[in-house]
Amino acid sequence: MCGIVGYSSLKTNAVDVLLQGLATLEYRGYDSSGIAVFDNDQLNIIKSKGKVSLLKEKVLKHHLHASNGIAHTRWATHGEPNEINAHPHHQGSVTLVHNGIIENYHELSLQLMQEGYQFHTQTDSEVACACIDAAYQQTKDPLAALQAAQTQLKGSYAFAILFDEYPEDVYAMRFDSPLILAQDDTASYLASDIPALLPYTKQYVVLEQHEIAHLHKAAIHLYDAHGNEKEPSFQTTTMDVQAIQKNGYAHFMLKEIHEEPQAIKDTLHAFIHDGIHSNLERPFDYARYEQIMIVACGSAYYAGMIAKELIESEARMHVQVEVASEFRYRNPLLDERTLVILISQSGETADTLAALKLAKEKKIDTLAVVNVIGSSLAREAAFVAYTMAKAEIAVATTKAYAAQVALLSCLALKFALLHGNMTKTRKEQIITQLHQLPDLLEEMLEKDDWSESAHRLADHEHIFFIGRGLDHALCMEGSLKLKEISYIHSEAYAAGELKHGTISLIEQGTPVIAIANEAALFDKTISNIREVKARGAQVILICRQDFHVHKELFDHLITTPPLDRMVQTILTVLPLQMIAYQTALLRGCEIDKPRNLAKSVTVE
Ligand code: AGP
Repeated sequence: MCGIVGYSSLKTNAVDVLLQGLATLEYRGYDSSGIAVFDNDQLNIIKSKGKVSLLKEKVLKHHLHASNGIAHTRWATHGEPNEINAHPHHQGSVTLVHNGIIENYHELSLQLMQEGYQFHTQTDSEVACACIDAAYQQTKDPLAALQAAQTQLKGSYAFAILFDEYPEDVYAMRFDSPLILAQDDTASYLASDIPALLPYTKQYVVLEQHEIAHLHKAAIHLYDAHGNEKEPSFQTTTMDVQAIQKNGYAHFMLKEIHEEPQAIKDTLHAFIHDGIHSNLERPFDYARYEQIMIVACGSAYYAGMIAKELIESEARMHVQVEVASEFRYRNPLLDERTLVILISQSGETADTLAALKLAKEKKIDTLAVVNVIGSSLAREAAFVAYTMAKAEIAVATTKAYAAQVALLSCLALKFALLHGNMTKTRKEQIITQLHQLPDLLEEMLEKDDWSESAHRLADHEHIFFIGRGLDHALCMEGSLKLKEISYIHSEAYAAGELKHGTISLIEQGTPVIAIANEAALFDKTISNIREVKARGAQVILICRQDFHVHKELFDHLITTPPLDRMVQTILTVLPLQMIAYQTALLRGCEIDKPRNLAKSVTVE
């Protein structure tokens, strides 16, 4: 949610580095962008509505020679996405870019207007800028000003800041929104996320809550909230530059779907060999828990629905699954025998982090299932299990979701072996099938079972997904994927529920994607398919090769290899992702950066 880049260097290549960084971070928001650099001590702020490429065209016309600056690509929260509201903002001697939400911006703006400040934008960020400037005018000391401003600002923020009187320096501070720092022989860098730094270095420092960073050419100075200088602690990322390139694929989404076999292989390998990491002094103990609460957002929540069904049915433990934005404002019933599992690709989703905080306040054990190593969720949860999907750039998650389902299925297996009554033979069969998964996915990717489905869907505006049990949870994800990138309205229904109202929307030719992989529920789902078929629906049926369905019940059939239900969903999501991708392609949509969305939702 908003991408920030900052740069201070011995060279005069700031414009190139900042624009390159913004292009890499564009998945974090792309409704407008902007840059601020000093050229011969003269501040230049250039902004543009729309994509970073438009900003680039504008900036290059100015032929700027700058050795430091800040830049921003925006996902609007306060104020419409236009050029005025685009960052950077400037007040007095201060220029800044911001990711987050300043909750008390209204009160602050009234106070600051009394002091003579005028606001030109509809943003909370401009108010934060004035707040820092007001503090700065007291002392003319950037560090003191930032410390003072931190006591006034409420909400979440990651700022990169320039002071007119310090044209060789860049400052940064953060609370509840991510920022990382890096340096090489000639420059220092700051960014919202690792991909922006990969062309320069693999070593980075995570800016902690309330810390302030001062970048001066190739040097980084770090201060805690009280102004005490501290040594930066560098970490090394395993991500490589290939992750941020399309490598011949038309879109990142397509590339990432093709990376799914590897993501699953790596995730299973890491889980089987490294188990669950502990941030506490005690190791993770499966036997300690009697009930599980799963909390997440979006696709991660739908992965949680699969985990709930698997753990509850196979391990006979109580499992609830809840969206983080609801959970965080309830007073959920949790006790010391509860494990709260938080699922997140980014590990920076604001609602999921708030849910983690709530569970910690209640002294409940937390397990983060997270893809980004060293992310806030991974650092703050008691226990961590990493999905090893590596960097995911497309806004619509694919390989990270599949890796979440794979990891959660393994977790369910662990609980099932402890509490359930799974036979040794079944356990061995599941483990064998888990190991076969990457090859099976590769084989599915080689076929093109989805083009016909995409042609059937592309001209429609309303589509239904139906399924029961695990298939219903998969339908939720399939429907979200289609909505996100093709802008076709779709609804995912528990197949038996459709007749309680929504079936009235089925008419001649309405597309219905039905999943019928749950063996125990197969006949029931087939009855529901009959119901929609009788009302004129065209049915795209996804089901196991060994299940036989009368030809008159479907218009197009996609089959999947037959697997144990503990493994099947990890495979079945692939056709859903490919159908969404191909449909969006036929509709000419902006697949990697769908409208109104951003990869990582770091605001409420
Ligand atoms: C999925 O395609 C979405 N972009 C979105 O629902 C996402 O899964 C959700 O915002 C949660 O993100 P997280 O996994 O980074 O926490």
